[in-house]
Amino acid sequence: MLDTSQTAAWHDTGYLVLPGFKSLADCAAAMARAHALVEAFEPDAGASRFSTRDRSLVADAALLASAATVQCFFEEEAIDDAGKLLVPKSRAINKIGHALHDLDAVFSAFSHGPELAALAADLGLQAPQVWQSQLIFKQPHIGGEVGWHQDASFFVTAPQTVTTFWFALEDATLDNGCLWVEAGGHRGPRGVLREQYVCDHAAGTLRMQSLNATPWPTTAQAVPLPVAAGTLVVFHGLLPHCSAANRSAKSRLAYTLHVTDGQAAYAPENWLQRGGEFPVRGLG
Ligand code: FE2
Repeated sequence: MLDTSQTAAWHDTGYLVLPGFKSLADCAAAMARAHALVEAFEPDAGASRFSTRDRSLVADAALLASAATVQCFFEEEAIDDAGKLLVPKSRAINKIGHALHDLDAVFSAFSHGPELAALAADLGLQAPQVWQSQLIFKQPHIGGEVGWHQDASFFVTAPQTVTTFWFALEDATLDNGCLWVEAGGHRGPRGVLREQYVCDHAAGTLRMQSLNATPWPTTAQAVPLPVAAGTLVVFHGLLPHCSAANRSAKSRLAYTLHVTDGQAAYAPENWLQRGGEFPVRGLG
């Protein structure tokens, strides 16, 4: 699927932008299904907010339970401390996660197929395992910032293998919070894992543990990735990336998959685990 220049760019920069990987019809079907899931969602008093700035907003139990379910999480600015909605429900959801790819027919179809399997093989994933899916809304006006991080913090394997598949369902622009990356930041002296999200499964608790003090990229090191709907951005688990808040009037829906290589050892302290009753699957 990838030509030699794309493979070289993947190793050099740690990411690839693949315009038109999905049809606009596939994107529309995914978005329609996402909106239907939100419509059917009945928030209760214990509804969870999601913020990468303040992970304490999400109850550990709610996050852990979402590993094997389809759960909506609210935008930090969408509900008050008493759980009262401050914007219409359709504009209040930060994301849906984390087993859409296994439990929802529309997203299962979106998340599997020969094109994805071939791409994963070209990226060096010999036995792909899809651990999580997220529908990220980046709502107009209140879509939250996602600070610099590395996705490998959440999916530690030895050796490092986690690869992110980031599908733009709508145009992602500088105004509505497109991805920013540090090109080449996955390798060399800066390609170190800075943090690990550690789960104590016996206690049911989660914490972010600092591993390395290498600074996050400066503005001068950051590359924006504005992309059209249907584009797939794949990136290496150690690649630092972020996205700004969306203060524009347009949403920026994206769908992500996190995929490891089953030949690598998957850390038992990763928050997302699958048992024999709900095994992790590949991309084919
Ligand atoms: Fe990420």
